[in-house]
Amino acid sequence: MALLMDTRLLLRKIKDLRSLTSKRYRVKEKWAATRAKYPPTTLALRHFDSTYSTQLGKLWPSIRVALLSERKYGALLNNFSFDDIPEDYEAQGCRDFIRDTDTEAQPRLQQESEFVAERESDCVSVQNADADSLQLPPLQLSRNVKCLVFPRGDITRFKPAKPDKSGLLSYYLMDAASVLPCLALNVEDGHNVLDLCAAPGGKTLALLQTHSLGFLCVNDASVSRTMRLKRVLRSYIPKDLLTDEKLRITSFDGTMWGEVETNVFNRVLVDVPCTTDRHSLLEDDNNIFNKSRVGERRRLPQLQTELLLAGILAACPGGEILYSTCTLCRSQNHSVVEQAIQLAQENHGIQLQVVDLRPLTHMFRKTFHFAPDLPLGEMVVPHLAANFGPIYMCKLRRLT
Ligand SMILES: C[S@@+](CC[C@H](N)C(=O)[O-])C[C@H]1O[C@@H](n2cnc3c(N)ncnc32)[C@H](O)[C@@H]1O
Repeated sequence: MALLMDTRLLLRKIKDLRSLTSKRYRVKEKWAATRAKYPPTTLALRHFDSTYSTQLGKLWPSIRVALLSERKYGALLNNFSFDDIPEDYEAQGCRDFIRDTDTEAQPRLQQESEFVAERESDCVSVQNADADSLQLPPLQLSRNVKCLVFPRGDITRFKPAKPDKSGLLSYYLMDAASVLPCLALNVEDGHNVLDLCAAPGGKTLALLQTHSLGFLCVNDASVSRTMRLKRVLRSYIPKDLLTDEKLRITSFDGTMWGEVETNVFNRVLVDVPCTTDRHSLLEDDNNIFNKSRVGERRRLPQLQTELLLAGILAACPGGEILYSTCTLCRSQNHSVVEQAIQLAQENHGIQLQVVDLRPLTHMFRKTFHFAPDLPLGEMVVPHLAANFGPIYMCKLRRLT
């Protein structure tokens, strides 16, 4: 009863306030007429239900449930911070997934061959026991990149990181699967690296943690997102490493990169804009399934192909390019890679080799669920027990 009275009083007050506002300044509420019938998140779910049930078959229902549930984060440790990992995280069973690779958790995939992980002083080397038959070169992973995750099935959240005595934050929260493209890029000492679509900077930070970079070029077409990226870098990286001799930050259209700077970089990360499946299902703001963005969404595969081609041109012969997205969609994943390989050959005479990432997926099968039998590349698929991804990645090596 009291609540009803309070509500009535409140409504009367609002009415009085409205009568105080001069008619000129009153805004007529049109929302009922103009509001979209279906919010973008609903449109995204319908679209995914129709395309992914065909593309992913019986995997789709469980991926769908995971995508609609709370995602899991990893804490990328900042080697430049003075602070150690909070002890309570370790006590709660948190572990660095990059080191903790030795026990089995996921059923073996069909046709999977045996891989052996060897530990060396500065890097973790993964070899294929059937290397002769499959000819997989060993994969070197930087020992310096560390990312904490809570155990499978544990959805405890990390607290926001606090600044250390020099003002740097001790960890960066991101989808732990987003670290995989940076590991797969396999940066070696002195390498010149281009991060073509870098903002807000999670993968840039992971690349910097390797301590191997000769020169790093960081780019993002969006000026506002580049500003955000700069803020992230200032919060994690000491000032003396953010100098012009070591780092260049630009806001160019990445599709034009290959026309300006070609055959330069040892490693190129092409982490393209995509339908960002998780975001599209959960947030109506800035959602690419908004009716007004239909054209932009349809043009994505074209933009992605142009960005990947620009990355291929920017790499030097012998250099490696890592293409990644956070969508499950085939037309934005392996179809883009196929198209870019063809265009590189036909229009630029560049021969490319697809690098087999199975050693990497085998190594991390305890932490992530990977899609089986993709025609090209590898993909982390969301799962309720390990709710990371989706992350698609495909690695190319320039032969010429
Ligand atoms: C998936 S996000 C990159 C995420 C980032 N790599 C990270 O790990 O934080 C894709 C980015 O591509 C940028 N982008 C879109 N079109 C671009 C273009 N033509 N050239 C370069 N960047 C572009 C967007 O502004 C967006 O920040």
